[in-house]
Amino acid sequence: MSVLITGGLGHVGSWVAYQLAKQGKRIIIADMAAGHFDRLGLDYLEEVRDQLVLESVDVLDYHSMFELMLRHRDDLEGVIHGVSVIAGPHFQQRPFKHISINATGTLNVFEICRILGIDKVVNMSSGAVYGDAPGPQNEATPYKATDLYGATKISAELYGLQYSDTYGMDVRNARLFFVYGPGKRPSHMHKVYQALFGPLEGLDDIQAPNGSEQALDWTHVHDTAAGIVKLFEKDSVVHRNFNISSGVPVDHLQIVEHVADITGKRASVTLGPGPFVVRGTPLDITLAQQELGFTPKFTDIREGIRDYWQWLKANAD
Ligand SMILES: NC(=O)c1ccc[n+]([C@@H]2O[C@H](COP(=O)([O-])OP(=O)(O)OC[C@H]3O[C@@H](n4cnc5c(N)ncnc54)[C@H](O)[C@@H]3O)[C@@H](O)[C@H]2O)c1
Repeated sequence: MSVLITGGLGHVGSWVAYQLAKQGKRIIIADMAAGHFDRLGLDYLEEVRDQLVLESVDVLDYHSMFELMLRHRDDLEGVIHGVSVIAGPHFQQRPFKHISINATGTLNVFEICRILGIDKVVNMSSGAVYGDAPGPQNEATPYKATDLYGATKISAELYGLQYSDTYGMDVRNARLFFVYGPGKRPSHMHKVYQALFGPLEGLDDIQAPNGSEQALDWTHVHDTAAGIVKLFEKDSVVHRNFNISSGVPVDHLQIVEHVADITGKRASVTLGPGPFVVRGTPLDITLAQQELGFTPKFTDIREGIRDYWQWLKANAD
């Protein structure tokens, strides 16, 4: 059987693809970037390349998405939906486009699954659905949007829950939080991400506009992907929404110190005042631990930083 992963060449989706492929599954990756796979630097996917089918498609192009999923339907055990424009200042610069990708793109996937009779869908959601509610936030914490991105993630979750209730589908929401690690370079990310992790890649003289007064539960991408895989593989679930995070908040200035200690080099890094994004922290991961058997490995961020550093050194430009 196969699993279709939308956004399967993204940071999280590519590791979900890797982990499922390592279990012997065939993976259909539906991603706009599929046409230039060789230039993405996702070295770990080379190891499972024979099990991947790459499909270049825009999730907003309903007809092409439909045709693609129709072609693979008979072999699909389910879909993992990971296309999204992620949170950050960039999101606000083109609100209509980005809201469309996150909300309408997700709706397209649910609608095609409904028509084609593909019941099982894991939707990559976000702890942004809690906004700045004080942590630890559990799955019963009410929805609160503190930015447009959060609004799109709430709407996508609600579409999924209503498709489940109305059409008997099995949509599950994985609420992810602040992912870091192999697969994405700090130099390709927002300044705050560069300030925290950039020195691992040799970046220096980094000034981020904010972020110094915040602690967040940053989560190593292997743990994020493992949580999604566990949620997908569970035969039946009692709950539909699950927090998937390290569950351990770490002060941003502490991360800068850890990176300097681990690399043995102190780069010039400044984080401006205030938070990076308006969020409460941490996510309470008890439900995922109990119902899914989710156990994040990198709860000590220093271990995660070391692993990230190894990957960046092995994949230097
Ligand atoms: N990265 C995080 O810290 C984080 C935190 C919370 C939630 N999430 C959620 O996890 C999911 C995955 O995030 P990520 O960090 O892997 O994102 P990413 O940006 O690394 O990956 C997104 C992928 O989607 C593809 N894509 C974008 N627009 C597309 C379109 N219109 N049609 C087809 N493909 C398109 C891109 O090519 C990319 O490969 C998202 O739903 C995001 O909201 C991420």
